[in-house]
Amino acid sequence: MPAGPEGLLDANASPEEVVVAYHERTKHHFHRYAASLGRMDWATQPDPFRRYPGADVVRLLLPKPGRPLPYWQLYALGAVPSAPLSLESISLFFRYALSLTAWKRFHETTWSLRANPSSGNLHPTEGYAVLPTITRLGNAPAVYHYAPKEHALERRAILDPRAWSKLCAPFPEGSFLVGLSSVHWREAWKYGERAFRYCQHDAGHALATLRIAAAALGWGLVLLDGISASAIAGLFGLTRGDDYGTAEREEPELLALVTPTLPLTSPQLPNGLTAGSIGAQWCGRANALSSEHNVEWPVIDEVAQATRRSASAPITEDFSRFPTEEALFGIPVRNGRLTAEKAILGRRSAVAMDGATTISQDAFFRTLARLMPTRDGRSMPWDAIPWRPRIHLGLFVHRVEGIPRGLYALARDPDKLATLKDVMRRAFRWQRQPSAPPGLPLYLLQEGDCGALAARVSCGQHIAGDGAFSLGMIADYRDSLTMYGAAFYRNLFWEAGMVGQVLYLEAEESGIRSTGIGCYFDDPVHEVFGITSREWQSFYHFTVGGPVEDTRLTTLPAYHFEEEQ
Ligand SMILES: Cc1cc2nc3c(=O)[nH]c(=O)nc-3n(C[C@H](O)[C@H](O)[C@H](O)COP(=O)(O)O)c2cc1C
Repeated sequence: MPAGPEGLLDANASPEEVVVAYHERTKHHFHRYAASLGRMDWATQPDPFRRYPGADVVRLLLPKPGRPLPYWQLYALGAVPSAPLSLESISLFFRYALSLTAWKRFHETTWSLRANPSSGNLHPTEGYAVLPTITRLGNAPAVYHYAPKEHALERRAILDPRAWSKLCAPFPEGSFLVGLSSVHWREAWKYGERAFRYCQHDAGHALATLRIAAAALGWGLVLLDGISASAIAGLFGLTRGDDYGTAEREEPELLALVTPTLPLTSPQLPNGLTAGSIGAQWCGRANALSSEHNVEWPVIDEVAQATRRSASAPITEDFSRFPTEEALFGIPVRNGRLTAEKAILGRRSAVAMDGATTISQDAFFRTLARLMPTRDGRSMPWDAIPWRPRIHLGLFVHRVEGIPRGLYALARDPDKLATLKDVMRRAFRWQRQPSAPPGLPLYLLQEGDCGALAARVSCGQHIAGDGAFSLGMIADYRDSLTMYGAAFYRNLFWEAGMVGQVLYLEAEESGIRSTGIGCYFDDPVHEVFGITSREWQSFYHFTVGGPVEDTRLTTLPAYHFEEEQ
């Protein structure tokens, strides 16, 4: 089998060195894109739907449309009463987090869209849950795989009830676990070596959709960041060679605890957790996703290996110097346009922006304020992750009422302002945006039309210049890796994906649209912001603005049985 280009580093390299080598190697440059096949091999296109034939399937009844919960209440602490854990609430949870939201058709081709977005719509992310006994779902605790096409749960393993209760004893009654894995091949098939980055972005988006879905049920959700990758793999059966055979394997990503009330701070599962220790009895065998793989990308395996987490103490960081909700928003938002359901299930990427729509300052400031954790550590979805923001925004503002066009910065950790000033171009003005709420750390760097510039550094994609604003997510990269180790490389992408998911929903609420941009020229973005230090790296781009609909496409319901209910 032909292999992609040579590997990253020799076997003596440290995991951090492997990460840095991978990141540098997978940059897009004006004169050279990161290595990929360079064409679409349609014959081996991976199936976007993993299934485990042989496992029992529990069909989740589709929640009735029209749930009136207002979108703004997702963010208002304690506003949503906690739903009891039931087949119905679990169905709603997965519907809002990972389900299909539409099918699209163009001539003879159809494809589905989901609540969670995905680079190239390739959907490498698989969802799992470990649920207690729930009436009409199962009469024993079990490990389930979520099947989005059917909106169903596949029961992968039945657990010993006593072992499970012991494991969950520290958590409130009605808590459960959810987790994510990635099938690298689904992204690598199209994007080659850069695909690992996209898998991580997608996992971050999905972590946010899980948190948001929990919020819609009045539940808390918190990442169990101290648990090892091997424990996650063991819990979800990803290490069971016989169940996969030659089918594509899944890389464990993350595990989160869902609680019936607000998130716990620093919850922990026992280290040394294995499927055996909870008495798992497995069923089902994974389907193959591609008939064959004509190319391999070994650097993805290398960076995956280097960033696999070992068990560690959970991260605890101090948020006491972050702004309050009042300082961030001026007046906290307690009304809005959409229901949560409309925003979550109606979310779509814009395929083009109109180059004309101007948004209000209120919408702009509210959107940015939603990207900030608050002092009490309770702002959703940031309450799901325990680290202070490592992703800051370099903004290209094109069309916001009353705000000069130009480059801006949002310091998502206000204590990083001095460092950002130091890292970016000396000549920047760093003038606080005077009309912004007092707690929003938004600064004008340089005035001027930057539409063409934004498009140029986003692989020439016009959507970056034709929206109301676009942005580069600038990661505090090396310092984070030094502090938390190579595994935190993934966390940086997850945080970026979470920022993106909030931008998607906020755009819906504002009556506009947004789009994640994974294709950008890394170093030219750094040049725009005058960043010469390799310690800081651009991790993701986004554009937000007035969309142009593609009227050639037909939209069909997500589930054919949707119409029958
Ligand atoms: C990590 C990531 C990177 C993306 N990169 C691009 C991009 O460079 N250009 C683009 O037009 N769309 C991009 N998208 C948007 C996807 O194409 C889109 O999410 C996918 O087609 C599914 O459509 P939906 O978001 O409407 O569900 C990206 C999305 C994600 C999550």
